Amino acid sequence: MGSVFPLSLLLLLAASYWRSGTILGRRVRRAQGPRESPPAPSGTSASFWVRINPQSVAVRPGASVWLNCSNSCPLPPNSSLHTQLRRGKTFSGPGWVSYQLLDVRAWSSDVRCFVTCAEETRGATARITTYKAPHSVILEPPVLEGGMYTLRCHVTRVFPVGFLVVTLRRGSRVIYSESLERFTGLDPANVTLTHAFHAGFRDLGQPVTCLARLNLDGLVVGSSSAPITLTLAWSPASKALAFTSIAVLVIILVAVGAAYLRRCLAMRSLA
Ligand SMILES: *[C@@H]1O[C@H](CO)[C@@H](O)[C@H](O)[C@H]1NC(C)=O
Ligand SMILES: *[C@@H]1O[C@H](CO)[C@@H](O)[C@H](O)[C@H]1NC(C)=O
Repeated sequence: MGSVFPLSLLLLLAASYWRSGTILGRRVRRAQGPRESPPAPSGTSASFWVRINPQSVAVRPGASVWLNCSNSCPLPPNSSLHTQLRRGKTFSGPGWVSYQLLDVRAWSSDVRCFVTCAEETRGATARITTYKAPHSVILEPPVLEGGMYTLRCHVTRVFPVGFLVVTLRRGSRVIYSESLERFTGLDPANVTLTHAFHAGFRDLGQPVTCLARLNLDGLVVGSSSAPITLTLAWSPASKALAFTSIAVLVIILVAVGAAYLRRCLAMRSLA
């Protein structure tokens, strides 16, 4: 009997707790309601937009670019441009500001335009890229010296050199490849790649090409040289050596043949 009282008390307490909990819960939910979808205050910028045009543009190194930042703010807005690039002129009209950027030489730049309308700020981003595909890729005829072939590949007027990879290929095999990351110049430049290698017989008669490629964060541009065939270009020393070896071989063959013939004749005369 003594245990019934505390148990019913516990149930009562639990029930009242549960009821107050739900009431509390409902109150909380009601209080949250307006925060999720606030009614738009009249006469302000609740849904103003900011656009930048063009959003993406590629130019030759050193060129200038115009970017037009427009917005739908009904009030006179505050607009600004964030960029590392050098600025030129600025023009504006109702709802737009046009900015000129000068002498673009960074391979890729993000330019942000911010507009503040009734204390709310929104932005839009444009990307300006600049590169120059190789004007020409020329592979010189190979030079054979001391048993080594020297290949020289000239790549002209390319930018940015730091993103250039020059590859020498024999057939589909890579003989040599070099990435020119260490070059940070801000102008198109000429690059010459020199590579010396021992050529075996399997290299002869195979076309060799030089491939210059700019790998710009996924955008790949490049071009290839005309193919050149490795030939046996004898040096005077190796010519003399080859001639001597052939002469010695002929003498040996003649001597062996003569000995064999003599033996045959001797056997026949015995029989
Ligand atoms: C900038 O864009 C706005 C809106 O598209 C346009 O009305 C305006 O003529 C443009 N200004 C220039 C200089 O292109
Ligand atoms: C690069 O080579 C081209 C063609 O050979 C030449 O006209 C140009 O002046 C060179 N440019 C530089 C920066 O050396």
